[in-house]
Amino acid sequence: MAYFEVSILALPLLLSFTVVISEKEKYYMKAILPDDNSKEFAMGKVGPGISKAVETIRRENRLPQVEINLTFDHSNCDQTNPVLTFIDALKDDNLDVIVGPACDYSCAPVARITRYYRKAMVTGACLASAFGNKDQYFMTRLYPDYYGTSPPVLSIIQQYKWDMVALLYEHQYSYSEIQYCFFTIPAIQKDLVAKLNLTENDYFVKRFHLELAVDGNEGEYLENMLQEVSEHARSK
Ligand SMILES: *[C@@H]1O[C@H](CO)[C@@H](O)[C@H](O)[C@H]1NC(C)=O
Ligand SMILES: *[C@@H]1O[C@H](CO)[C@@H](O)[C@H](O)[C@H]1NC(C)=O
Repeated sequence: MAYFEVSILALPLLLSFTVVISEKEKYYMKAILPDDNSKEFAMGKVGPGISKAVETIRRENRLPQVEINLTFDHSNCDQTNPVLTFIDALKDDNLDVIVGPACDYSCAPVARITRYYRKAMVTGACLASAFGNKDQYFMTRLYPDYYGTSPPVLSIIQQYKWDMVALLYEHQYSYSEIQYCFFTIPAIQKDLVAKLNLTENDYFVKRFHLELAVDGNEGEYLENMLQEVSEHARSK
């Protein structure tokens, strides 16, 4: 008898508990990241961080109305595989948000179809400024685009009134990585001309290949390079 009473008393509690759960909106989030740990945004490096973020939202009840179902898919960094992974995820799973792909050459083709499928995308890549068009791409980027580096560089140049500028950057051989320097330098060059009125004779661009330094001679390689560059830079 006593047991029966308890059950009846508990029933409304159970019911209201069930109602609260069903009120939550379920969002399906899939992270598509490369396996290769040498990549900047490899699954092994950023996957645990994404899990932790979702777990923190849940634990701290940051989005009381939302339940996030996070899953992971492995990909590589090429132009095809991550797109297929994304399309398979649309087909096989419910999908609301995609995190990644995070290599530039994988990110771009997926970004281009997010609008068509009306899926939100969050990524550390796709930094070309064209991807900033919110009407075209349903995407949030976690980094400033390639032009984002320009304002601080320009303001340092202005602060010190430099009128001769050398831009040095390291060449990356891998086309599957984010080619941050390769794309950032032209953006800065463009701003030097457009915003600081420098001409092509006022700035100098040097791409260096540290891999070309003979074993153990990186110091010498860099010294020679700086010597060459000093002819074109602020201090002679
Ligand atoms: C999350 O979604 C996947 C794919 O739709 C499903 O297989 C899995 O059971 C879901 N997990 C939870 C905890 O709901
Ligand atoms: C830009 O530089 C050119 C020559 O280098 C000069 O003739 C021109 O007046 C400058 N324009 C501005 C807006 O400073």
